[in-house]
Amino acid sequence: MKKIVPIITVFLIIANSIFSQTKNILPVREHLLMDFDWRFAFGHPYDTKKDFNTGTGYFSYFAKAAYGDGAATANFDDRSWRKLNLPHDWAVEQPFDKAASYSHGFKAIGRNFPNASVGWYRKTFTISKTDEGKNISIAFDGVFRNSMVWVNGFYLGTEPSGYTGFEYNISEYLNYGGENTIAVRVDATMEEGWFYEGAGIYRHVWLNKTSPLHITTDGTFVTTTVKANSADVNAQATIINQFKETKTVAVIQSVINAAGKTVAVSDTKKIRLASYEQKDIAGKMEVPQPSLWSVDSPYLYKLVTIILDNEKIIDQYETNFGIRTIRFDAKEGFFLNGKHLKLHGADNHQDHAGVGAAMPDALQEFRIKALKEFGCNIYRCSHNPPTPELLDACDRLGMLVIDENRLMGVSTTHFDYMKRFMLRDRNHPSIISWSIGNEEWGIEGNELGAKIATTLQAFTKSIDSTRAITAAISGGWQKGISNVIDVMGVNYIAQINTDVHHQEFPNQPMWGTEEGSTNATRGIYFDDRKNNMIAAYDKRANNNARSIEEGWKHYAARDYLAGMCIWTGFDYRGEPTPFGFPSIGSYFGMLDQCGFPKDDVYYLQSWWTDKITLHILPHWNWSLAESRGQDFVGKGKEGQEIDVWAYSNCDEVELFLNKKSLGKKRVEKNGHLEWKVKYVPGKLEAVGYKNGKKIITDTVQTTGIPAAINLAADKKTINADKEDIAMLTVRTTDKNNLQVPNADNEITFAIRGPGKIIGVGNGNPASLEADKYIETIKVIPIENLREKAVDNINVTTEVAEVYDDKQWQPAFTDDRTKEFGEKTKALVYRGKFVLPAIQSNDKVSFFYNSIGAAQSIYINGKLIAANIQQTEKGNTFILDAAILHNGVNTIAIAAAPLLKKQPWDNVNTNPGLFQIITPAEQYKRKLFSGLAQVIVQATGEAGEIIVTATANGLKQGEIKIVSVQTTLRPVVNGN
Ligand code: GAL
Repeated sequence: MKKIVPIITVFLIIANSIFSQTKNILPVREHLLMDFDWRFAFGHPYDTKKDFNTGTGYFSYFAKAAYGDGAATANFDDRSWRKLNLPHDWAVEQPFDKAASYSHGFKAIGRNFPNASVGWYRKTFTISKTDEGKNISIAFDGVFRNSMVWVNGFYLGTEPSGYTGFEYNISEYLNYGGENTIAVRVDATMEEGWFYEGAGIYRHVWLNKTSPLHITTDGTFVTTTVKANSADVNAQATIINQFKETKTVAVIQSVINAAGKTVAVSDTKKIRLASYEQKDIAGKMEVPQPSLWSVDSPYLYKLVTIILDNEKIIDQYETNFGIRTIRFDAKEGFFLNGKHLKLHGADNHQDHAGVGAAMPDALQEFRIKALKEFGCNIYRCSHNPPTPELLDACDRLGMLVIDENRLMGVSTTHFDYMKRFMLRDRNHPSIISWSIGNEEWGIEGNELGAKIATTLQAFTKSIDSTRAITAAISGGWQKGISNVIDVMGVNYIAQINTDVHHQEFPNQPMWGTEEGSTNATRGIYFDDRKNNMIAAYDKRANNNARSIEEGWKHYAARDYLAGMCIWTGFDYRGEPTPFGFPSIGSYFGMLDQCGFPKDDVYYLQSWWTDKITLHILPHWNWSLAESRGQDFVGKGKEGQEIDVWAYSNCDEVELFLNKKSLGKKRVEKNGHLEWKVKYVPGKLEAVGYKNGKKIITDTVQTTGIPAAINLAADKKTINADKEDIAMLTVRTTDKNNLQVPNADNEITFAIRGPGKIIGVGNGNPASLEADKYIETIKVIPIENLREKAVDNINVTTEVAEVYDDKQWQPAFTDDRTKEFGEKTKALVYRGKFVLPAIQSNDKVSFFYNSIGAAQSIYINGKLIAANIQQTEKGNTFILDAAILHNGVNTIAIAAAPLLKKQPWDNVNTNPGLFQIITPAEQYKRKLFSGLAQVIVQATGEAGEIIVTATANGLKQGEIKIVSVQTTLRPVVNGN
């Protein structure tokens, strides 16, 4: 066996290069993005009519295979539905409403808003004939929530969780060489957490094609052992044989380094699998002189697992991984690759201004970079398994992760959820800990909690024993969960004396899973509780809480504490503590909902990084003149004392007001500096010294009123792939080009070229402005359809706009039998439809479904289509608004009848729908504390995207982003 390794190796290298270079060879495994060209419409949680009559058939889709009805039917007419791409969060598109949920940031969804709580998604795609015989599945990374899926009318399953990925094998249900339809019903009426969670298919969808004998999804597990000059890579792969006969195959694995070079190859393993048998294979490879993964140098390797059937490659599965060691020590904290690392963390929900939970992948990267900027080295996915691309970004950028389970429990349901996300995530080097739960108030301080946590912890370890198991605990210390959990997660030192706990449990590592839950509004420096604004000085939110500085000083001073996670990195929608409506977002973030830093960021940057840091607050626009008639708390401060704070890691800081020194102060480690300064407009400058030398300055300066708009982007070039984004920052400057920190102008945005705006924000947690401006769609049915037999379809009087049809019988009263056809050569159908006032930019479409073998269609007496033949898919007519009325309109259809061939046939009785699309309004947003954000996404073509920003009285701002051609990742064809 050993002898054939080199031959196989050569073969493997050749095969690898064949797959990467030859276009005509079909890949053995395809992982196709299925995000584009979906149709979307709201259904209803209990009104079946509004839910497209789905599930109303005598035999339901639960009763008989292929009995999907209503919107789950393969050929359901969804032409009037909205077109969109995934990821999609419909919650963020809704207005705010006081009657909506506090947790969901008062977005108008949930049980009080049944019309916007169930969403339907449909997509048509083609599958080639050559795919017949393959194993084909559809995989959802996450749908919020309670999704049901059908393919070609076949019910596939229900997934209640909004956070767990799921996959359905659809090989047998597909129409090979033709069209296929997928329908997804999503019910977000109920929440899972107590924070904003979005609604809809907010993560990617994939179509996976493999050989019937293949490595299972998430079927590899790589663990590493670092030795003196090498590392052992232990690679496990789970293989399933879905052929109908027994198969013997060979499996070979290799490790590729970041430069694409093969650095280790496994022995070949022969494996015999009966039909539907699943087996694990495991092998060990040695990587010489490995580059270790760390937060500063996130080096990634790739495991390639290949299955050979008689020397033909039938599967190739790639797994990114890193080589690193982790260790928790109860006395000394955390060690990465043997080196001590104090953990500087941030808790986060998946929610961003403008887009909510539906984050383009590039936004994950943007957010992780923003956290790293202030020294954050660990991200806690509070309180659910994250979107996979978040973990990819953490792997790539060097951010450790606590991956958290949603709901603690030990039934098979809970075990299943825990297992599924662990299998999905177990190869990410960034993950150092599995959290089995957060603040389980009902059980955390009692014996039951201890029992449940012990069992879940044991189960978790049975899946992966290489990472620390933790739970975030908020009370009941020294009993319950804190008694049994491997790594004790402390939610707030205000609630526990960690020294006492450590004394009692000296062998239990500890860390702060949440700390410093302070409230601050970015750029606000005087409390204005009437307007839901909280000054951004780091102060205790109340006496039961600690400030960020108090929290960090506690953790910094104790070696036994591995580190702490700040509550939170980013502001998020929901939990607008200490306010209610109209506050819609939290005040806890170091960064606001857009990722703009609050001042606290510089406190952390001072003590969490080696970057020389000096930051002073507040801004210096406090005179009446600069208030520009605006009513904000703190204006007109001339001659009054203002609190000036400095965050710095210098030895000393000296403050100057208009060049006059206000004194030099020594910086206490992990502390900050304060001055009381009588306000005079001008320039306040701080100078930082290290070893007696001036090394950094920071200035705040009184500005004039805004004169011009300025746009900046995080990147000037994006990929023309329909996914990539640029994050624009909008500011104003005064006539001297100084940024105006308290500007609040409303800015309107226009965009041209191959880009679109997908969301706007400004970080104000009390703003009720729209995140998104989307087209609105109204769908209007035809009512009161009546019929009368006529001689032929060329009649003229019965199809006129005005005609007395009161005596006509309701349409389709008579069965369309052969006999009916012998008697009736033609009919006129008349009905009405009621339109709202049509605006000049509205587009009115008529989606007609044939109700005749041949027909002529008249709207308000005007001929729309003459003598058209029946079509399967119907006809679409774009209507000229000039022929339409505000209010009642008439439709007349002169048709040769459609007849049943067999008595059990159905003939179409639904002539279709009218749709009015009102284009989206122009995007606009007010600046808040001087800033706003615009998210621009590539629409797919290469070219220049120009965004302009205008506001009354201000010089227009403009920015160019170049969208460049790129190799697209493989996508599902269709539509
Ligand atoms: C914690 C909880 C967080 C968040 C925070 C707000 O108890 O774990 O999810 O709700 O409080 O203060």
